[in-house]
Amino acid sequence: MKLAMIGVGYVGLVTGACFAQTGHEVICMDIDSKKIEGLRKNEIEIPIYEPGLKDYVKLNVAAGRLSFTTDLNQAVSQSQVIFICVGTPSREDGSADLRYVYEVARSVGQTMQEYKIVVDKSTVPVGTAARVRQLIAKELARRGTNLTFDVVSNPEFLREGSAIDDFMRPDRIVVGVESPEAERIMQELYKPWTDGKFELFVMEVPSAEMTKYAANSFLATKISFINEIANLCALTGANIKSVQKGMGSDKRIGPHFLYPGLGYGGSCFPKDVKALVYIAQTLAYNFKILEATEIVNQAQRHRFILEITRYFQNNLEGKKLALWGLAFKPETDDIREAPSLTIIERLLEMGAELSVHDPEAMKEVQFYFRKHANRDRITYADLPEAALPKAEALIINTEWEVYKNAELNLIKSRMKNPVVFDGRNIYDPAKMREMGFTYFFVG
Ligand code: UDX
Repeated sequence: MKLAMIGVGYVGLVTGACFAQTGHEVICMDIDSKKIEGLRKNEIEIPIYEPGLKDYVKLNVAAGRLSFTTDLNQAVSQSQVIFICVGTPSREDGSADLRYVYEVARSVGQTMQEYKIVVDKSTVPVGTAARVRQLIAKELARRGTNLTFDVVSNPEFLREGSAIDDFMRPDRIVVGVESPEAERIMQELYKPWTDGKFELFVMEVPSAEMTKYAANSFLATKISFINEIANLCALTGANIKSVQKGMGSDKRIGPHFLYPGLGYGGSCFPKDVKALVYIAQTLAYNFKILEATEIVNQAQRHRFILEITRYFQNNLEGKKLALWGLAFKPETDDIREAPSLTIIERLLEMGAELSVHDPEAMKEVQFYFRKHANRDRITYADLPEAALPKAEALIINTEWEVYKNAELNLIKSRMKNPVVFDGRNIYDPAKMREMGFTYFFVG
């Protein structure tokens, strides 16, 4: 089938590359000409770090199944199914900013010349597909044509760092449709998956839209819940790792998303939780659990900061601290809503000197702090161990493998004082204490 991805961000590029991989012909469109140029180069430039993505793009470009353009007209005219993959950032009040989605809808209405299926892939509030439908219809009416089209909701459930695998081997595919024809085409599109025994759930459009928010909000709540249990473990003397195991082995609970830490970050959970709280508020419904999920999430990083400052008796002036892990989670260079940023800002405010390291997100953090008044007090270490000399404590924010496998003796010998604040519980507390570390962890 011939497909168009409008918006070559994370979702658009992964979705486009994966559909091409299964034999569909995909054109990806973005207004950012620099990005498109990079993707068209011989030595392809992938705008994001995602394991496996570059290989998929290269392979499918070479096979002639994947191409890139800045021309929306071209993308729409040569495709049967058009995926809207543009961003839906949070506004101040928590609502999702749908301006880019609506812009694409209008443009499709202005350019389409035959029946099209328009798919909302971006995460959008319930009712957005209906609005997209209205906008397209309005443009068609303005042109005086009576072309038909369908709007479908097909939310993505991709995790950064394992997006390719999540797309190719999904737990489920959710499709919200309004007509038998749209259902037939979506079934055909996902045939390579359903043939492979992956399940496709067809439902009403609003249900598909809600499923995405419900799933992300539930997972975020699971994280906030385990963080609160971890905090209680610290107060009661219970061992969070044992509790996690004991709880997670109940099939109804499951072992996933029960890892305490500094709270969730990234581009999805914070934004989607806020958006669902906002949606509820506009309907005069008070979504108490979800409001608490967000409050707990913010509190978690501040609790960690408090633990650090308390240890130094609120005196961080001129103290050198090493920080490992800047990305919001491993296997990504994404620092959106990363706990590390809040931690860095607070420590700088208190006068600390920071030496930071991340395997992928250094450039992003450098850019983020480029105008910060205290940016000169951050040094960027090219290796994890290079951050350690003279450090009075090591703070771990992201559970990258390289930190998990670090030589503990080396850490100890390089630091001024062997003090570790582990925000991701990557080491064994008993071993750390045995080795002479002062070791703080979550729980
Ligand atoms: C998430 C959803 O998983 C995905 O389905 C959706 O499409 C987009 O949002 P992503 O943001 O890439 O994906 O990351 P994910 O692996 O889900 O982790 C989200 C955050 O939760 C990270 O900050 C992570 O550190 C945190 N987390 C996750 C925990 O603190 N504990 C856990 O047990 C799991």
